[in-house]
Amino acid sequence: MHIFLDTANLEEIRKHATSGLIDGVTTNPSLIAKQGADLKSVIQEITSLVDGPISAEVLATDYDGMLKEGLEYAKWHENICVKLPCTDDGLRACKTLADQDIKVNMTLVFSINQALLCAKAGAFLVSPFVGRLDDIGQSGMDLIADIVQVYDNYGFDTMILVASIRHPEHVKMAALYGADIATIPTKVFEKLSKHPLTDIGLEKFLADAKKKQ
Ligand code: G3P
Repeated sequence: MHIFLDTANLEEIRKHATSGLIDGVTTNPSLIAKQGADLKSVIQEITSLVDGPISAEVLATDYDGMLKEGLEYAKWHENICVKLPCTDDGLRACKTLADQDIKVNMTLVFSINQALLCAKAGAFLVSPFVGRLDDIGQSGMDLIADIVQVYDNYGFDTMILVASIRHPEHVKMAALYGADIATIPTKVFEKLSKHPLTDIGLEKFLADAKKKQ
């Protein structure tokens, strides 16, 4: 499973990019706004830190506006994935951009039918938001299992990128269900390697080794 960081915080990306464990980065307008810098400069800096798909989301909501922004973003770097909302205009823009070999990440996906249309529109990535479904009492991870099944049924190339991850359990289930990618907020990513028994075991090994010396 590929691991992306879900952040626009350059310090966080710098810190973890050197681990060799980060395969890409996703941003969205809320994450960009938090940085207080313009989209282009943040995205171009990220492309210099991580050699993998970097998602930059359009702000336009109409087909023509999405195309204009998407074509501009695609010029910034070959790794750019243009992020489009899963609306009728977004799907049409996805098809147009994908037909020009521009990578599209279809975002704000909350149903199998939406994911089906994203694949048919030629999306490179589809981003089902699991945390936001959990928030309203539905099962985000059930949606992931269903999309994996549907995409397997028809051999769709679109990669499933589990988004809106809130805790390590989401990452575990994404891997168990066979999702292609998990895009993980930095705080959650930093929890993945942690286990109390690892710490306890290491402490004992070191204490025992000291005794022998
Ligand atoms: O990539 C989408 C993600 O950033 C949204 O997460 O926690 O705002 O639902 P969240």
